[in-house]
Amino acid sequence: MKFRDLKAQYQALKPQIDTAIQSVLDSSDFVLGSPVMELEEKLADYVGRKYCITCANGTDALQLALMSLDIGSTDVVFVPDFTFFATAGAVSILKAQIAFVDIDEKTFNISSKSLEKTIQRILLEGKYTPKAIITVDLFGLPANYAQIRKIADRYHLKIVEDAAQGFGGRIGNQRACSFGDIGTTSFFPAKPLGCYGDGGAIFTDDSQIADRLYSLRAQGRSKNSKYVHCEIGMNSRLDTLQAAILLEKLKAFEQYELNAVNQVAKWYTERLGVAVKTPFVPEHYYSSWAQYTIRLENTEARNKIQEELKKKEIPTMIYYPFALHQQTPYQGMGQSDTEFPATMHAVQTVLSLPIHPYMKKEEVDLVAKLILENL
Ligand SMILES: Cc1ncc(COP(=O)(O)O)c(C=O)c1O
Repeated sequence: MKFRDLKAQYQALKPQIDTAIQSVLDSSDFVLGSPVMELEEKLADYVGRKYCITCANGTDALQLALMSLDIGSTDVVFVPDFTFFATAGAVSILKAQIAFVDIDEKTFNISSKSLEKTIQRILLEGKYTPKAIITVDLFGLPANYAQIRKIADRYHLKIVEDAAQGFGGRIGNQRACSFGDIGTTSFFPAKPLGCYGDGGAIFTDDSQIADRLYSLRAQGRSKNSKYVHCEIGMNSRLDTLQAAILLEKLKAFEQYELNAVNQVAKWYTERLGVAVKTPFVPEHYYSSWAQYTIRLENTEARNKIQEELKKKEIPTMIYYPFALHQQTPYQGMGQSDTEFPATMHAVQTVLSLPIHPYMKKEEVDLVAKLILENL
C-alpha cells in the first residue's frame, strides 16, 4: 500500500500528461512559457482571487509573500507551533522575528485564544512590531478565518495564508488560498494538487502586491525592462513543464479527485470514529485531506499501531514528531513546552494514515481493521 499513490494517479492521467509534456518539449519554451500564464489564470479563477503568481515552491511562495509585505528584522510574524518547518523558515530567512502560537486541540490549526495572548505579550514587551500572522490550513482543513480576521483587524496585522496543504479546501463556498491578504500554496508531488517536482503559487486581490510579486520572483526586475532592477528579488519561477502537468492535474482534481479523497476520508471516519479520535471538520468546512490524521490515547499506543501497520507494509507518518519551538534554530527563543499544551499533545499522539483519491474501500477497511485490532 502507498501512503499517497502517485503512480496510480499517473496511470489514470497518462495520455493527457504525456501529451502535455511532449508539447512543452516540442515548443522548447521551458521558462515562463504560455502554460504558466494559462495555469495562473485558471488557478486564480479556481481559488477566487484576482491574481495568481506561480513560483518555484511553497517555501519561496511564503518568502515572496513576506517580502511583498516588507517584513523585516524588527517585525514579528505569528506562526503556529505545529506545522512543517518551512512556515517558520520563510520568516527566519528574512531575519524577521517569530512568535510561536499554540494550536486548537480539535482542528490542529492556529488557536485564536493563544494568538491573541501572544500578540499582547509581544506588545507588552515593546521590543518588536507585530506585523503578520501566518495561518496554516493544516492537513487540508482551513483555519478559523472568522476569528483570526477579527484579531488581525484589531491589531492591524496582515494574514498570510499558508495553504501548502490546504489547496482545494473551503469554508462554505470560499476556497483556501483566498482567506488571507495573501495566500500561498505548494505543488510538491504529495500535496492535494501536486506537480512532478517542485512548484508553488501566491494569490492576492491586491494589484500592487501582485506587481511586486511578479518582480520579486524574477530578481526584482522592473515591469517594463528585463535588465532594469528595482530591488533585490529571487529567482523563483514555475517551470513550463510543471505548469503543463498541473493544467492536466487541475482538471482531474476539479472533476473527481477532490470528491474521491473526501469519500476515502468518510470511509475512514465511519470505520474508526467509534474507537479513535478521527479528524474534526467543523460545520461548513471542507477539507482537501492532505493528511488523514488520527489521535491515539498516548505515545505508546500510537507507536504500537504504527509498528503493527508497518509489519503489514502499511505506511503511516507522524506529522509532526516535534513542535517548531523545539527545533534547533528556535531553541534559544526561550519558549517552553508548557506554553504549547495542545501542540505538545499533538506531537505525542498523532498518526497520519495513507490517503489519496485512488485509494480503494478494501484498503481503507484493512487499515481500519488493523488499527481497531491493535488498540
Ligand atoms: C504547511 C507547509 N508550508 C510550506 C511548505 C513548503 O512547501 P514546499 O515543499 O513546496 O517548499 C509545506 C510543504 O511540505 C507545508 O506543508
